[in-house]
Amino acid sequence: MMPDYLITWIHLAAAIALIGGLIFSQFVLAPAARDTATDSRSREVVRRAGRRFRTVAWVSLIILILTGAYQMLNESGSARIETAWGVVLMLKLFLFAIAFGLLLIHDFIIDPYAPSSQDTSPSASSPTVPARADTLQKAAIVMTLAVLLVASYLAKI
Ligand code: HEM
Repeated sequence: MMPDYLITWIHLAAAIALIGGLIFSQFVLAPAARDTATDSRSREVVRRAGRRFRTVAWVSLIILILTGAYQMLNESGSARIETAWGVVLMLKLFLFAIAFGLLLIHDFIIDPYAPSSQDTSPSASSPTVPARADTLQKAAIVMTLAVLLVASYLAKI
C-alpha cells in the first residue's frame, strides 16, 4: 500500500501533535489560565482551547494506534514475544495503554473543560477537579515521554 516511511512519518507526526500539545497545555496554557483566574472571558478562552485540543489529542491517539498496528503487521514476525524486540514492543504498548487510560479519565470522566465546570463561579465547581485534572495530565505527559523513550530504544535494537 503506502511506503513504510510515509506510515512512520504519520506515526511520528501524531506523536508530536499529542506530546507537544500536552506539554503546551500543561506548561503554557494552564499557567496562563491560573494567572487570569478571575477573568471570566479568559477562562472561557482556556476552556475552548482545552476542548479543541481534546479533539486533536484523540485524533492523534487513533492515528498512532492505526499506524502502529499497521507497522506491527508489516514487520515480518519480529513483533513476536520470543524476540527481545518483541518484548520491548510489548513494554511500549503497556506504557501506551497506561497513558491512554490516564487521558481517557482526564478527558471524559473528569472532563475539566466541560461547559458547566467553569462558566459558573469558580467556587461552584468542585475545587478538586482542576487539581486532579492537573495531576492526571502530568502523569500522561510522563507516560507518553516514557513511550517515546522505549520507542527510541526500540529503533536501535
Ligand atoms: C505516545 C504514543 C507513541 C509514540 C510516542 C510512538 C513513537 C514511535 C517512534 C519514535 C517510533 C520509531 C520510528 C522508527 O525509528 O522506526 C515508533 C515506531 C513504531 N511504533 Fe510507535 N509510538 C506510539 C504509539 C504506538 C502504538 C499505540 C503502537 C501500536 C499499536 C505503536 C507501534 C509502533 C511500531 C510497530 C513501530 C515500528 C517499529 C519499527 O518497525 O522499527 N506505536 N513509534
